[in-house]
Amino acid sequence: MEKFRNTVTRTGTRSVKWDLRESIFQNKDVLPMWVADMDFPSTDAVKDAIVERAQHNIYGYTITDQPVKGAIQQWVKKRHQWDIDEKWLLFSPGVVTSLHMAVQALSNENDHILIQTPVYPPFYGAVEKHGRKIVKNSLQLKDGRYEIDFEDFEQKVTDDQVTLFILCSPHNPLGRVWTEDELHKMADLCLKHNVTIISDEIHGDLTYPEHTHIPMASFSDEIREQVITCMAPSKTFNLAGLQASYLIVPNEKKRKSIEKQFSSQGLGMLNTFGIVAMEAAYLHGEEWLDQLIQVLDENKKYVQEKIHEHTDQIKVLDAEGTYLLWLDCRQMGLSSSELKQFFVSNAKVGLNDGLSFGREGDGFMRMNIACPNEIVVEGVNRIIQALNG
Ligand SMILES: Cc1ncc(COP(=O)(O)O)c(C=O)c1O
Repeated sequence: MEKFRNTVTRTGTRSVKWDLRESIFQNKDVLPMWVADMDFPSTDAVKDAIVERAQHNIYGYTITDQPVKGAIQQWVKKRHQWDIDEKWLLFSPGVVTSLHMAVQALSNENDHILIQTPVYPPFYGAVEKHGRKIVKNSLQLKDGRYEIDFEDFEQKVTDDQVTLFILCSPHNPLGRVWTEDELHKMADLCLKHNVTIISDEIHGDLTYPEHTHIPMASFSDEIREQVITCMAPSKTFNLAGLQASYLIVPNEKKRKSIEKQFSSQGLGMLNTFGIVAMEAAYLHGEEWLDQLIQVLDENKKYVQEKIHEHTDQIKVLDAEGTYLLWLDCRQMGLSSSELKQFFVSNAKVGLNDGLSFGREGDGFMRMNIACPNEIVVEGVNRIIQALNG
């Protein structure tokens, strides 16, 4: 576990999280616990595979061949008990790119698209930048846990203008790992009303011990025809800068449309190192991932306990998955701009502003705990001192 304990300097490595502190927070001294990547080195298997590939020193156009497809197939089967056919796979530099492509391929201008808010900000862009309209199914906070308002969900998917639903599973920023029952209900309603589901499962490998991620498309042959699943090793193994992800699209017609969309934007190939890293991580990274989850679980519990012990002005919601904690700061009684100001100027901790995930996020902040424990301790201390000082 030592590899998850040491703090590795990232400043000066062109890191968005560390090197953009001044421009994002106007304060270069904030402890960055915002953008969703990790301060941990990836599994050595990734480094070894990249170094070996780099020794060749020729970086021509590279194919996503059978071995990498096989690595994905065995990973999805082993970690998520879902048997996928290699021919269902499409590749994409990133999941956000996949959302944009799928929306354009599978809906028309002015169509309505359902999202569950508050949610990862690019969901809004993937809809609105293409002249589609957002329809919201706001998630409801009840006794410290977010739930789906199914009555509202059903009403929204019944509307003929709603053609697509973009699901965030597990959910960023709320950390919910949707249960079998919740997923089944959503899938059945979408099937009944012929709404196609784009399921963003980028955080699917990152669930805490008591929770299990279920790929939406794995329920039945009928449901899988309705679902576009977006997955990647990037959150799981800290490979976001390598830009390699994939879509699983069992329905041939939908797959062809998405493929055509990618090709019409000139997006036909992945980065050589991205392919190599994805294959190595999926083939050899399982033990590393199991250790990572233990470390994240310890960090999560530490933040929850310390904050609970020292203040009742902030409540840390229990994340069931993801390394992102959703902090309910409404008891602090601050306006949105005062809240942001408090974290940046008083506490000197760089978090994501809850409002950036939608208006339901007002009064909340998102904290990234994918860092060595000493950074988590420092971040929590800074917040407690600023609150009490
Ligand atoms: C739900 C969700 N989807 C997509 C992404 C980004 O994916 P990519 O870097 O592959 O575009 C993130 C990153 O935080 C995310 O949380």
